Amino acid sequence: METIYAVALAVAFVLLMQKLIRFALADADLRLLAAGPAPKGTFNGKVVWITGASQGIGAVMAQKLSADGAKLILSARRLNELTRVAASCTGPHANDVSILTLDLSDTSQIPRSVELAQKAFDGQGIDYLIHNAAYARPKLPVEDFPEDLTKATFAVNVLGPIALTRAVLPGMLKRKTGHIVVLSSAAGKIPSPLQSVYAATKHAMQGYFRSLYFETHARGINVTIAVPGPIASRVGAGAPGSSPEASGANPAVHVADPTAPDVNANEYAEEEKGRMTVERCADLILAGTAHRLPEIWISNHPVLAFLYVAQWLPELGDLIAKRVGTSRVRRYRTGQKDSYSLAALLGFGKKKPEEAPRAEGRKAE
Ligand SMILES: NC(=O)c1ccc[n+]([C@@H]2O[C@H](COP(=O)([O-])OP(=O)(O)OC[C@H]3O[C@@H](n4cnc5c(N)ncnc54)[C@H](OP(=O)(O)O)[C@@H]3O)[C@@H](O)[C@H]2O)c1
Repeated sequence: METIYAVALAVAFVLLMQKLIRFALADADLRLLAAGPAPKGTFNGKVVWITGASQGIGAVMAQKLSADGAKLILSARRLNELTRVAASCTGPHANDVSILTLDLSDTSQIPRSVELAQKAFDGQGIDYLIHNAAYARPKLPVEDFPEDLTKATFAVNVLGPIALTRAVLPGMLKRKTGHIVVLSSAAGKIPSPLQSVYAATKHAMQGYFRSLYFETHARGINVTIAVPGPIASRVGAGAPGSSPEASGANPAVHVADPTAPDVNANEYAEEEKGRMTVERCADLILAGTAHRLPEIWISNHPVLAFLYVAQWLPELGDLIAKRVGTSRVRRYRTGQKDSYSLAALLGFGKKKPEEAPRAEGRKAE
C-alpha cells in the first residue's frame, strides 16, 4: 500500500513540475499555447478588415494574414503608410488589398467606410473585423492627465470601434457568420498605474465585447479578445521622423508614429527590454482567432504571471498592484526609464534621488 502511495505522489510531483516548467517558459496563457499555431489556410479566401494597419501589430498581422491567403481591407489615417504595408503583403490576394483610410475619432466617416468595405471583393462581406487601432499611450499620473486627451483616447479606443462594430454587425448577422477580434491589453484586465485612461478604455472594450459575444454567439458571431502585455511594437522605428529604410528595418512595418511623443531612440531601446516581439504577438493573436478562443493572454513574465495572480488570487493581486503603483510613480517622478523587470516593477534595487517631475508623457504599454 505504501508503495502505491509513494508512486502516486511521485507521479503527481512530476506532473506538477511539468506544469510549473511549462508556465515558467510560457509567453501566453496555457490554453492558447496548448491550442497551437493557426492551422495553415485558416484565413484563405476570407475578408479581414484591420484597423490601425499602418504600423506595429496591425501591419504585421496584415502581412501574416495575406501570406495565409486572406483578402485584406486595411484602415488607419495615413494613406502612405497603409500603401507601404499593402505593398509588403504577399499571398494570392496581395495584388488587390483594399485600402480604406479612416479616422476612428470621426464616427461620421464610418457608414461610408462600411459601405465600401462591404462592396469590396465582389461584395463578399466581412468575415473578420480586427479592432487594432489605438490612440497614443502617454504615461502620466492621474492628476496630470488632461481632459482633451481623455476624450481623444476614448474616441479612438472605444467610441469609434463601437460605432464601427454596430455598422458591420448587421451584415455578419445576416450571413450568420462573423468574427470580431479586439486588441485589448493587460491594462484591460489589471490596474495599470500611470495609464489610467488607457486602462479605462481597454476595460470598456472588455465589457462591451464580452457582452456582445454572449448576446450574439448563438447567431454565428465569434469574438476573440486579445490581452497583450508589453510588446516591442516600436523596435527599429528610430526616433520619430527617421527613415525606417535607413535603420534597416522592414519599411512596411517599422514606421515612425507622428502621434507619439518625442522619444530618444536609445532610451526607447532600453524600454523595449522584456517586451515580446510584434511577430510573436501577431502569431499568437491569429492562433487564438483561428481556434476561436474568446479571450487570450499574450505576454512575457512577469506580466503574464501577474494576470494569473490577479484572476485567481485577487487579494494578492491588489497587494502587488499597490507596490507596482508606488514604484511606477516614484520612477516617473525621478526620471527613471520604464521597465518591466520584476525588480523595477516592485520597486526593488537602486533608487534615484528625487528630481523635478517630468513634463512629457511617453508612449508605451
Ligand atoms: N504595443 C504594446 O505594447 C501593446 C500592448 C497591449 C495592447 N496593445 C494594443 O494593441 C494594438 C496595437 O498596438 P501597437 O503598439 O501596434 O499600436 P501603434 O503602433 O501605436 O499603432 C496604432 C495604430 O492605430 C492607428 N490609429 C491611431 N489613431 C487612429 C485614428 N484616430 N483612427 C484610425 N486609426 C488610428 C495608427 O495609424 P495612423 O496613425 O496611420 O492613423 C496605427 O496604425 C492597440 O490596440 C494597443 O492598445 C499594444
